[in-house]
Amino acid sequence: MAPPPPIRFDVLTLFPALFDGFLDESILKRAIGRDLVRVNRWDIRDWAEGKHKQVDDRPFGGGPGMVLMAPPVVAAVEAVQAQAEPPGRLIVLTPAGRRLDQAWVSELAREPRLVLLCGRYEGFDERIIETLQPEPLSIGDYVLSGGEVAAMVVIDAVMRLIPGVLGDADSAVDESFGPDGGLEYPHYTRPRSFRGREVPEILLGGDHAAIARWRREHRR
Ligand code: 6GU
Repeated sequence: MAPPPPIRFDVLTLFPALFDGFLDESILKRAIGRDLVRVNRWDIRDWAEGKHKQVDDRPFGGGPGMVLMAPPVVAAVEAVQAQAEPPGRLIVLTPAGRRLDQAWVSELAREPRLVLLCGRYEGFDERIIETLQPEPLSIGDYVLSGGEVAAMVVIDAVMRLIPGVLGDADSAVDESFGPDGGLEYPHYTRPRSFRGREVPEILLGGDHAAIARWRREHRR
């Protein structure tokens, strides 16, 4: 059987190095090594013009902070999307976006290619949004200093749903937000006794039906 085509992420950012450790550890590293997942990073500054390679500027009308300029950001996204087929689903990371949940994560995991546009500073020139019409995505109701950490959240949540990425085929379904809803049960490993707290006796025996029942009853 031919291996499934890898899901491809293209991340556009002013700080590609923020992803170094993230891409080089643990499950994601193994998934990339097995070519189940591909992650390409692109530095938006490479599409900036002039000696200073400027990517942001002060807002017209005044106010605090800097605004990402339309020309380099739009050029970067268009070049990256044109660089391979399909162009991919374009997502912009912004605290004003639609809140990510597990249902949206599952939908994203069925896409062949996701293009993640990370902002910094106060925001994007509105014409970036009008021109590219990206889907705005937020990871929660708080403000981060940039979209990079949120992009890592998206990549992590999506890649672990790709078939073959997790060691145990069941680990992606039997959990808090899985198809059954409900919440996770308590887990235990060695030692059997820790500061006077014992592992529940039922988990130490081999009665799998009883263990399944105990876990159902202890979902939280
Ligand atoms: Cl996607 N970006 C930023 N800057 N802050 C956030 C966020 C995204 N999601 C929640 N807060």
